[in-house]
Amino acid sequence: MLVVALDPPFSPVLGEDYLRIVREVDPYAQGFKVGLPLILRRGVGAVGKIKEATSRPVIADLKLADIGDVMASALGALAEQGVDAVIAHGFVGVEGSLDKLVEEAEKLGVEVIVVASMSHKGSEKYIDKHVTEIVEDSLRLGVHGLVLPATRPSLIRLARGLVGGSLRIYSPGVGHQGAQPGDALCAGADYEIVGRAITWSESPGQAARAVLEKQLERVRACRG
Ligand code: XMP
Repeated sequence: MLVVALDPPFSPVLGEDYLRIVREVDPYAQGFKVGLPLILRRGVGAVGKIKEATSRPVIADLKLADIGDVMASALGALAEQGVDAVIAHGFVGVEGSLDKLVEEAEKLGVEVIVVASMSHKGSEKYIDKHVTEIVEDSLRLGVHGLVLPATRPSLIRLARGLVGGSLRIYSPGVGHQGAQPGDALCAGADYEIVGRAITWSESPGQAARAVLEKQLERVRACRG
């Protein structure tokens, strides 16, 4: 239920030794998310190094938002590093964009996860007006997951109602962006994505364990 986001700057104690963070939090995480900041600083090879350091799935969060051929090309570079899933924006639409990405991802054995809403306030202005359409398009396309914000649990409930059990829901926004561990899980998410509350901690392993314990406590209370 916990996916750890590896975005620099990292722990004040461990510096930018992201592989050490991976090893420390590995017992508590069910996956890792690698973002543009890490890939720009360390190169796409960082994805391969993380894959060597953990058996957990690694998700590349470049929030792809381009024409299909260009996204497919980016996907190819990530697939060479062994990435398990990529995150793409849903607002770009299907024809000529997400359809091509999904086709290529299927060939390469990589999962596609679509952003249906974002955790920041500005998401309300454009993206959130189309959450239902993005979720329905994602269902039709046969993607593997959706990203919806822990900061707006009502959108998670809406998406879960639309997709039932057929897609996984990943939810960032826990900790530094305000949501509490378990908020999104109780609204219907499968995973909460947590970055700075863990990676900025002096002890990322202990911080990850604390998040996991809070998640379990909340889930026991809300799901019974
Ligand atoms: P923090 O440090 O806030 O990190 O726990 C959150 C991580 O999640 C990403 N993020 C998002 N990704 N939709 C996304 O697809 C969102 O609404 C969203 N909000 C945060 C962020 O890039 C970081 O890696």
